[in-house]
Amino acid sequence: MAPGATRRVAVIEGEDAAPEAMRPTLELLSRLPLDIEWVWPKVGDAGLEAHGSLFPDEARRVIDEADTTLFGSTSGKSAPALMYLRWGKGTYANVRPARWMPGCKSPLADPRGIDLVVVRENLEDLYLGIEGDSSDLDSLDLQSRTARRPLRELGPGKYALKLITEAGSERVIRFAFELARKRKAAGGRGHLTCSSKYNMLPVSDGLFRQTAERLAPEYPDIDLDVYIVDDFAQRMVTRTQELDVVVLPNLYGDILSDLAAGIVGGLGLAASGCYGDDYAYFESAHGTAPDIAGRNIINPTATILSAAMMLEHLGFTEESARIETAVEQVYAEGKQLTPDQGGTSHTTDFCAAVGDRL
Ligand code: IPM
Ligand code: MG
Repeated sequence: MAPGATRRVAVIEGEDAAPEAMRPTLELLSRLPLDIEWVWPKVGDAGLEAHGSLFPDEARRVIDEADTTLFGSTSGKSAPALMYLRWGKGTYANVRPARWMPGCKSPLADPRGIDLVVVRENLEDLYLGIEGDSSDLDSLDLQSRTARRPLRELGPGKYALKLITEAGSERVIRFAFELARKRKAAGGRGHLTCSSKYNMLPVSDGLFRQTAERLAPEYPDIDLDVYIVDDFAQRMVTRTQELDVVVLPNLYGDILSDLAAGIVGGLGLAASGCYGDDYAYFESAHGTAPDIAGRNIINPTATILSAAMMLEHLGFTEESARIETAVEQVYAEGKQLTPDQGGTSHTTDFCAAVGDRL
């Protein structure tokens, strides 16, 4: 992206309560001197109405012509757009920071100093979505290593395919090493933790671990730790402050990034960005909160901080930092927080409070 040029951002609000977080976030951004042109691809219901499809070609064109996309969250109707943003755009590194800000409602007795980032592999593992009837596998004549019996003797059932590729592991683990390096240059701890279930799955999850160990000598300035994922889950809760950058295969990353969000105060705080070699898009890690839709109480922090990550990506570094600082101030003051953080304020009040501190 050329410095100084107008940036074009595609906005997809998503479903249920997600638009209630997105709209005031955009309003907030409009208070900053940002040279951004906002475009609105018609997906989900709007796509159906205008073009007869949940993800029409026209919406795809709008995304392709934008520099990035800001996505709310989906409960289904905008999911085809999300699939395109991940697999169509090759956004293989899902970056999910979990930093405790004073005032956030962490369940830990002492959350001070928690500042970790989950880097989740975003495109493979069980997320290839290849499932089927176990009888489809009969001709392969597979033997269960654990049950020590031919697969076909185990009876009718369904399977899902887990694939960990060499290239897929290497690119996301390199991304994580580079991120640890960048954070170290800014005062971070220079640490990378890699985790998978390599004791039970020494071949597939083993490859993920071995890839981290193979690349480690290229990053002598970064300390690498490797843990089995169940042990790592308890470490995330008991030794949280020791963590810096964490790299995980897709499904473990999905689960443990929600855990990381819970540790610092909940999914309402969980920002995320998905990066590929030539495209990135930004999306809160939480769902659409259908239970609170229409009440103007969804915590917009995840959306606001995802937008801040987007600004940084677009080169609006100073504006990104201003938003983060303003959010921190609102939490530190603790007067205009949403119910999930123990407050009684509405989404729009929280956003107004952030706006006032910009
Ligand atoms: C996430 C969500 C998605 C995922 C769903 C909506 C498909 O849980 O972004 O973490 O599993 O990746
Ligand atoms: Mg998830």
